[in-house]
Amino acid sequence: MKSVIDILDLSVEELDGLIKTAMDIANHPDDYAQKCKGKKLATLFFEPSTRTRLSFEAAMYELGGNVIGFSEANSSSASKGESVADTAKVISCYADIIAMRHPKEGAPYVAAINASIPVINAGDGGHHHPTQTLADLLTIYREKGRLGGLTIGLVGDLKYGRTVHSLIAALSRYEGNKFVLVSPNELKVPDYVKKDVGDAAQFIETTDLMEYMDKFDILYMTRIQRERFTDRDEYERLKDSYILTTDKLVPAKKDMCILHPLPRVNEISVKVDDDSRACYFKQALNGKLMRMALIMHLLGHNDGQRFKGTTGEGGHKCHNPSCITSTEQELEHIHKKGQDGVYRCIYCDQPSVGLNSTSNSK
Ligand code: CP
Repeated sequence: MKSVIDILDLSVEELDGLIKTAMDIANHPDDYAQKCKGKKLATLFFEPSTRTRLSFEAAMYELGGNVIGFSEANSSSASKGESVADTAKVISCYADIIAMRHPKEGAPYVAAINASIPVINAGDGGHHHPTQTLADLLTIYREKGRLGGLTIGLVGDLKYGRTVHSLIAALSRYEGNKFVLVSPNELKVPDYVKKDVGDAAQFIETTDLMEYMDKFDILYMTRIQRERFTDRDEYERLKDSYILTTDKLVPAKKDMCILHPLPRVNEISVKVDDDSRACYFKQALNGKLMRMALIMHLLGHNDGQRFKGTTGEGGHKCHNPSCITSTEQELEHIHKKGQDGVYRCIYCDQPSVGLNSTSNSK
């Protein structure tokens, strides 16, 4: 059985196959109208969502299936203290597949190792958002005709921006991509995102949105996310760091593609919506098509075997307050050495305090 917790749970061949299926769904929707007849999707959303939850639900209905679920933690027994593991075991009795969003990093992973049905990560804290990446990949493919040889500007909150983390992981597997990471110094991409992709991709970091504006094939804007900040003053100081306006687009390529996972607050002026390069509403449509393709793919691979978790070393505590280990009952804290030699928590990917001394970190 396959679950998708990280975009790397899908091979390049699977990503290419999902894109092919999504394009076919767009052209022949009637051929797919009964593909999931008799199947149920459970949407377990412990954090707000418009696009992800509703596009998952629309996707399942358009495949002929049904949907159960909840849209906020307060309407589930999580509000009474039920664990993610128990929730996953119970929902496995009622549904065929789960899409879960949770504010704690690693929560969908905990669900996957406890469920007897496939689990899809619909966004976990500031960590991963693999199905947004599927929407992004299809949009890039439809607009540019390729997923390699691109210069991609990623702008905004790159520290907590889970969509950016998953997109870098996915596009790093295609040849010749260059990433220009545009953020305030306080919101730079975490090391684990860059280091685990190896030497396949090039990275440039800058605080200046305009420095490479004439080079971008893709401009991926993101929101500075108020809900991820513990320091309100820091949020107020950083929230308007980058605002894309029509005048800033003057030096940009005529065929550049402007993406944003949405919701936007003010980081793209509404006037930019009329520019032919603005693709963020197409991206939302593409999200539904890719989620249809993914649901079919995962239901087709349910061999009854449980999702196999990562193995690693126990005995050390994860100190990240946003990690699922901070709230889940009796969850063993496990750490694993990455390609860069650094031990990280298997749930949230934060470096492991106590395991990364000079002597044992490499
Ligand atoms: N892009 C995205 O995840 O949007 P929602 O938060 O509305 O689901």
